[in-house]
This record gives sequence, C-alpha cells and structure tokens, in this order.
Amino acid sequence: MNRPFVVTIASEKGGVGKTTIATNLAVYLKALREDLPVTIASFDNHFSVDQMFALGPRPKNSVADLLVGDSSDELAVLGQYGVQYIASSRQMQAPSHSPGWLSQQLHAAVLPGILILDTRPILDWFTEAALLAADLVLVPVKDRASLVNADALRQVLTAVEHSDRLWLLPSLVDSRARLNAEVRVHEFLVYAARERDYQVLDICISKSPKVESLSSGFSSSIRPVLTHARNTAVHGQLKQLAEFALSRSGVKSRHGSGFRSGMMPADLTEMSVGHRRRLVLECPLCCRLSLPDAGHFYFDLRSRRRGFIHPDCFEQISDDLNLGDTDDPDHLFALTIEGQGLVAPECRLTAHMFDSEGSLIDSEEVDLSGRQFLVDLLSMITGRSLDVAYREFILVDRVAQNAAAQLADSAYRHFSLRRRQIARELRDAGLF
Ligand SMILES: Nc1ncnc2c1ncn2[C@@H]1O[C@H](COP(=O)(O)OP(=O)(O)OP(=O)(O)O)[C@@H](O)[C@H]1O
Ligand SMILES: [Mg+2]
Repeated sequence: MNRPFVVTIASEKGGVGKTTIATNLAVYLKALREDLPVTIASFDNHFSVDQMFALGPRPKNSVADLLVGDSSDELAVLGQYGVQYIASSRQMQAPSHSPGWLSQQLHAAVLPGILILDTRPILDWFTEAALLAADLVLVPVKDRASLVNADALRQVLTAVEHSDRLWLLPSLVDSRARLNAEVRVHEFLVYAARERDYQVLDICISKSPKVESLSSGFSSSIRPVLTHARNTAVHGQLKQLAEFALSRSGVKSRHGSGFRSGMMPADLTEMSVGHRRRLVLECPLCCRLSLPDAGHFYFDLRSRRRGFIHPDCFEQISDDLNLGDTDDPDHLFALTIEGQGLVAPECRLTAHMFDSEGSLIDSEEVDLSGRQFLVDLLSMITGRSLDVAYREFILVDRVAQNAAAQLADSAYRHFSLRRRQIARELRDAGLF
C-alpha cells in the first residue's frame, strides 16, 4: 500500500498536548519500526514540528504547498530521528475547495507508512480536512471542557460514517488530582467519556515537569521524550501509544512489547550482565536501532555506556568535523570535554584522531554553535545533558563491524587497552 495511514491529532481546546503527542508519536513509531516511513506535518503555525525535526537548511516548500495540490511525497524531507517532515508555514490560506479534498489528495499519494497530522486548536478548514483524511483520530482530553469540545469533532466524522476512527486520549493527567475524596479526575474523565459513548484509550499521558521542560525555555529546538526524558512515565505511555497506532495501521510492531529484551541478538546474551546493562541499542545520532548491524563502537568513560553508531550517521560527524585524513583503516576518534559543562565559558569540546597504535594524529577544538546534532549526540552518548558535563571522554572505533565481533571478549579487551593508552597520551599532552 503506497498511500499513508493517516493519524490526526485534534482538539478544539488549546494546550491539551496535541503537538507534544504528535511529534513524539512520530519518534516512537520510528523507534519501534525503523523500516517504517513516518512523516509528520502540522497545520499550526507554531513551527514545533520544524523545531524537533529540522535537519539542515529550511526546505523550500511547506505544508501550504500541500493545499495547492503539490504531492505530499515531494514535500516531505528527511528530518532528525529518521522522521520525514513537511515544513510548517505561517501563510496558510484555506483553499476554496471543500475540506474533503485533502483526503482524496492524501489517499492518492505515493507516501507509504504513517503520516501524522497535527492541527490547530480550532475546528477550521484545516482541522476538518485533517479529520476527514484520517484513518485514526486521537483527541487528547485533559478536562471537562476538552471532553465537551470533542463532540464537534465527532460530528464531522459521523457525517462520513467514520466516528469509529476517533479515540479519546487522556492527556496531561495529574494522577494525584481528585474531584473529591473518592474520585480521581482521571477516573471521572474516563467514566464521563464512556458515558458519552466515546472510545477511550487505556493509555493516558501523564503530566510531567520534565516533559514540559523539553519544549519550554528559549532553546530553538524541541527534544523528544525518547531521547531526553526516558526516565519519566510518559516514555512508557508514548511507547504504548505508538504500539496502538501501529496495531490500528495494520503494521505490526516488530519488536513486540520491549525495546530491549526482544531485540537482544542471541549471541549478545552471553555478555556479562554488567556489560549488557550499559549497552545502548540505538544509534545515538538517529535513535534507530544500531544492533545487530555493522556500526562504529563507542564507549563513554564516565557512564561506561557503550553502543554503536551507524556508519552513515558517523560520516555526518566526521565530514562536519573535518579532521585530518589517515590511511590507517583501524584508527580511533575521541571526544573530550573539559570544564564545568559546556555552558560555562571556559569549557572546551575537542575532537582527536588516533592511529591504530594509539598515537595522536590530529586534534581540533569544536565550536558547538550551529551544531545541534553534536549536542544531541553527546547527551545521548553520555546519558546526561551537556550542562552537567564535566570531564568527559568518549572513544569511537572507526572500524565498522558487527556487534557480536566487537563485543566478543578478545575484541573488547583490545579496545580497552587502546582506550587506556589514548587517555594516557591525551593526559601527557595536556589535552585532557
Ligand atoms: N505530558 C506533559 N507533561 C507536562 N507538560 C506537557 C505535557 N505535554 C505537553 N505539555 C506542555 O503543555 C503545553 C501545551 O502542549 P502542546 O503544545 O503539546 O499542546 P497543544 O494542544 O498542541 O497546544 P495548542 O493548542 O496551542 O497547539 C506545552 O507547554 C507543553 O510543554
Ligand atoms: Mg499545538
């Protein structure tokens, strides 16, 4: 099937979590099914989609072009985390044709996989079009007002006999909030929704200060829960939501219910529990699985986290850093951070290249401005945000090989020997 399965996130109520759910759903779908094309577009003019997914210069075309008949597959560009996105637009004019036109347009598109549409907090032409085009409609409800508002969305779908596509999703739920001594607000909402004959998801998205912080503040980019708030309840909830969307779309989640257990290649189960616990299964740059394919092995000294970077992803980094060339195929690449986190002016990030003997070939201080992908990469590898980075040492083996070969005892011992030698050499040279 080449037409996309369309998931629309809608609510006339503002601030119920539509955009947070839409953008993160895209990332989690991709994490669960790395081979599934996932595309996202927003009819809102807040540019949140662009803030999370933009990679490189701003695309020439935007979602506004979708409404004048350009095809969605030509407008979608590859963004961060392997998600394709259609750039947002400030100049959205409702076309003269009826909102049902978008459905025909999308269903004729050659855009396989899942397309997520984020909408405005108003039932205008764009929201109506996104509802009519949807195979699945998720309506976040956080309070009575958003529940009452859902009725207008249901009416749009009922008119085309698609009301069974609408699901309410309790959102921004504070599990402690109570209506009275006996009844929690969440329980009341679910009860009231079912009374009104809605399908309500068993999943709810909890209110979390950590999740809120990912899109607040003055940063120009918005981070996904998957990469920056994995220790929250919302992480598991979004994963369940992605599994639900996959099951509705007919695409099965290849990895069953676990990100980790189901994916452990059989030969890695021989590793010690200590080593396995610190093994990260996703590539820190694109967040897609990097095991068990060939990849560049990395190791972070402080957290002792280790994993693999896809060769294509690594090329982006090495091209960008432009370190000197070497004929030695077995060379290594180190990143060191000195100082009280990269936010302090005296802090330095330096990239170094070593030959297979562990001798330094080249070092280059790295300016992080305009290199958000590198900031994200470092925090994914270290498992900490960079403002708490202190003295970090990350080593990457530039030979791409498969996990089982690299993690075999003898290869790992060889890597550890070189790691110690390189750390010594950097210290002796006053570089770390
Ligand atoms: N699970 C959550 N926990 C805490 N805060 C959240 C959560 N989800 C979203 N928020 C915060 O709530 C606010 C509104 O979220 P979001 O922008 O996703 O809602 P929206 O429905 O798209 O809003 P709008 O209608 O204005 O487009 C944001 O500040 C966001 O950071
Ligand atoms: Mg929004």
